[in-house]
Amino acid sequence: MASLNYPLPPDNIPLLNQNDYMKGDKISSSGYGVHKVLNHPDKLLKIMWLFDAPQNAEDEENPWTELKMSYIVGELGIGAKIYGYYVENRNIHMIMELVEGTLLKHTTSNENIYNKVLVIAETLVDNGIQNRDMNGSNIIIQNDGSIKVIDYGQAYEISNLSDSEKNQLIIKMARYARPHDNSEYSLTDEMSKRLATKISLLNKGKGINPLPPMSKSRSKSKSKSKSKSKSKSKSKSKSKSKSKSKSKSKSKSKSKSKSKSKSKSKSK
Ligand SMILES: Nc1ncnc2c1ncn2[C@@H]1O[C@H](COP(=O)(O)OP(=O)(O)O)[C@@H](O)[C@H]1O
Ligand SMILES: [Mg+2]
Repeated sequence: MASLNYPLPPDNIPLLNQNDYMKGDKISSSGYGVHKVLNHPDKLLKIMWLFDAPQNAEDEENPWTELKMSYIVGELGIGAKIYGYYVENRNIHMIMELVEGTLLKHTTSNENIYNKVLVIAETLVDNGIQNRDMNGSNIIIQNDGSIKVIDYGQAYEISNLSDSEKNQLIIKMARYARPHDNSEYSLTDEMSKRLATKISLLNKGKGINPLPPMSKSRSKSKSKSKSKSKSKSKSKSKSKSKSKSKSKSKSKSKSKSKSKSKSKSKSK
């Protein structure tokens, strides 16, 4: 039976009565649409595509993933709260909190926002979630200055990352909020460039105390290059301790072990 292949809906997310949450005006036509909800001015409805045919389930990514990811981040308090869903015309209708504020793309990005986005990216990664779509249309700056990230249409479960892979991913996920020419990367590059210049000056005997004994000058250049790698690992361990300082926990993102055979382009 084909229906056996059909991924089951998540059982921890409330199934709502569609008569209580009827579709109002469309506020965004991207994707399958985001709408107001009749009689619920504080809520929005996002329509997400569900398989046309059950046999697609084998090839396509799980259609419930966006709902699941959105629900988790709503619980974590870093995305819109998800009240539940219903299925209509083979589409998932997700009912969520209307987050009031300004989209990042409508503001001048600054250090402050970047740092907040980094914290959200870190929380996501700590909870086993990668979000490939944290751009200016999906980051809302609320009136109190805090931010929420919406749109988990390209969010997936991740596991088994090393600390340095996690840090890389956090920086990558937050990249669209990064103030230009002010990145950690360019700072590090700048520092190693400067050290390299110093070392080459020393090797050419232009440093302090250019005395003949081979061993001495060698040990000097060695100790210099050591200090170079030291400064590198320092900046690394800095960001590491950052990710450590976060208390993880949340057994939220379950089914982490579930193997995902995706790859197929997402037909949204
Ligand atoms: N929970 C929300 N609160 C406020 N605005 C939202 C919310 N969800 C979506 N929007 C608005 O609708 C737009 C499209 O929603 P989004 O979830 O990003 O859909 P898409 O997958 O089409 O990009 C967003 O850029 C934002 O302007
Ligand atoms: Mg979006």
